[in-house]
Amino acid sequence: MSVKYIESSRTFKLDTPNTTYMIGLADEPGYIGQVYYGKRVNDEDLNYLMRTNEAPFIPSKNAREKCSFLDTYPFEMPCAWGGDYRDPAFEIRTVSGHSTCELVYESHEIIKGKKKLSGLPATFADESEAETLEIKCVEPDLGFHVILSYTAFSDVDIITKSVRVINDSADTFYLERIISAVLNIEDTPAYDMITMHGSWARERHICRREIPYGRSSSSSTRGESGHQDHPFLAVLEHTATEDSGNVYGMSFVYSGNFLAQCERNQFDTIRAMMGINPYGFCFKLLPGDEFTAPEVVMTFSSKGLGQMSRNFHDVYRKHLIRGEYKDKKRPILINNWEATYFDFNTEKLLDIARCAAVCGIEMLVMDDGWFGKRSSDNCALGDWFVNEEKLPGGLKYLAGEVNKLGLKFGIWVEPEMISPDSDLYRAHPDWAIKVPYKTPAMSREQYVLDFSRKEIRDCIYERISAILKSANIEYVKWDMNRQLADIGSICLDSDRQGELFHRYCLGVYEMQERLINDFPHIMLENCSGGGARFDAGMLYYSPQIWCSDDTDAIERLTIQEGTSLCYPVSCMGAHVSVCPNHSVGRNTPFETRGYVALAGTFGYELDITKLSDEEREMIKGQIADYHRYNDLIREGDLYRCESYRENHNYNLTGVVSKDKKEALFTFVRVMGIPNSHSRRIYFRGLDENMMYKVEGTEYYLSGAALMYAGFNVTGLWGDFNSRLIHLIGE
Ligand code: DGJ
Repeated sequence: MSVKYIESSRTFKLDTPNTTYMIGLADEPGYIGQVYYGKRVNDEDLNYLMRTNEAPFIPSKNAREKCSFLDTYPFEMPCAWGGDYRDPAFEIRTVSGHSTCELVYESHEIIKGKKKLSGLPATFADESEAETLEIKCVEPDLGFHVILSYTAFSDVDIITKSVRVINDSADTFYLERIISAVLNIEDTPAYDMITMHGSWARERHICRREIPYGRSSSSSTRGESGHQDHPFLAVLEHTATEDSGNVYGMSFVYSGNFLAQCERNQFDTIRAMMGINPYGFCFKLLPGDEFTAPEVVMTFSSKGLGQMSRNFHDVYRKHLIRGEYKDKKRPILINNWEATYFDFNTEKLLDIARCAAVCGIEMLVMDDGWFGKRSSDNCALGDWFVNEEKLPGGLKYLAGEVNKLGLKFGIWVEPEMISPDSDLYRAHPDWAIKVPYKTPAMSREQYVLDFSRKEIRDCIYERISAILKSANIEYVKWDMNRQLADIGSICLDSDRQGELFHRYCLGVYEMQERLINDFPHIMLENCSGGGARFDAGMLYYSPQIWCSDDTDAIERLTIQEGTSLCYPVSCMGAHVSVCPNHSVGRNTPFETRGYVALAGTFGYELDITKLSDEEREMIKGQIADYHRYNDLIREGDLYRCESYRENHNYNLTGVVSKDKKEALFTFVRVMGIPNSHSRRIYFRGLDENMMYKVEGTEYYLSGAALMYAGFNVTGLWGDFNSRLIHLIGE
């Protein structure tokens, strides 16, 4: 049993294989507090941790210092304006303009398995894999209810948390803030936080810093998770490393505006929180309305960041990613974007496909530019009709010819957008998101469609599904190339404009759900100007996401390292492209580009017809590697051993099979060093007592030797050099 209510101490105990999350109910009026989250403990009464027997006493014992009590209590769902002066998780506004509220325990239920979240992506589990605790709270004076839902998984150290507000009172109110999860970490003078930041072409760079007093946050107001910040937060002991120390991880299953924040207060208590960004958010709840806040996935690791990541990878692979390709090897694709940009036609694509087929590539993806009058990025979004001048005979002919070569065929779409220069915009200028008194700001010369409106989603869906039915299309890349601005919908009342961001996100989810249900054989890959919507919300719909428009092997070391903090390598879109690289102008060996892409979904993004014979031969070798190692890469445990981001020259990551009998490590030396000898590297994650053959060498060494004594990588010459090291255990 993973969730228990212990009546004697009025505590809930949620156990995962190695962790315990404990929630306590204070006596009258029934505040709900976080007792403990950490390494698994026995069923003991830990309520003393709540300090309700110390001053400032709980108001039922001494109401004189109620504010002081509220300002110290480790609330599960802290409310605004009552006297807890830290940032709240929950805030409302009544029609009379007041915001003070509190939530107290009313009842609870323990359920086997896990319920779906209406309209939202979320992890799933059957009755044998998880148990869920639902605590029903009430606002004692206003009468509405809030359900706090916690799921404890039995096969992975994960607790998920979501929140549902039920306005079963007689009055309307406005939901101003609803943060899905809060962690309270006490007496912690030396804790760090990790967030991820970046920009286009350099997404998800890791940023670790000591948690200062006050509030430190990472957030998005862009209508998507974004290139710049990321819906992930780790709170960890200052001394924690890849394989030691206590680490809390929080990941948001949501693709819109988010807030991930740490607040260190006067008592050195840290309140970490994650949820929808309250900035720009306000949801009106009429009597009878409900609102569900998206899920936060939390993990605790006492073995450092590496174990935190592996917990996230396991839960996302097993309990979030769905569909035909969930556990399957993905077809090796070649995408024409960097090969041709907008300058292509059927013949050019077929030339690429012919060459690709000879090398063993399995799918051709036609990127942007196949529809309407789209010959550059300044027109035609919304006109989802095949441009028969470029593609005579349409997609049926093209897909048919590609299929005859033995390749699958896939296409690019950007459903959420509309170009001012499009037939769609000329017919429906009011379909773009905008405020009535301004010309909306352009980005990439396009506007965003108001996806909160069902009629708009239906029209776009019909156009795109007609395309998907018109030919044998087996893959769709769903792109989104600008962020939201000028937030306004003509269909929302003046006191509902604050709902637009969230309704937009729900609209995207609804359309993707429809697409994968109607076309279950299609593999969906999400993308947003590179990796601006690489988040757990999107993973629920697509088993892989394009990581970044930066395909440079060296920049990718940093991007893929950051991404791996939270997401499995099996979902990281990674391609081999040409040099000089189109984002950074760097020249790296073809071999290194292959090894770095192999540690992701693997594919190509180049004009294969222009490669040398030697490079095309190398592609055949890379494809053989992919077929040989992909099961291990997709299913194994990830170990980050050396980080180029930290040491500025060496990167070593590897995947070890669950039974430890096989491992594949990728070593990259960034710059050549004169008069240097071989480089000693230290593997991780092996079985100390197992003997491993280092493939391609005469070495036969124990896991202990390979991890603690190390292994010399020899013969490195030149910059951006790399090695793939395959270990076979016996
Ligand atoms: C941004 C994507 O990340 C690229 O791969 C490409 O699809 C372009 N958009 C097309 O406009």
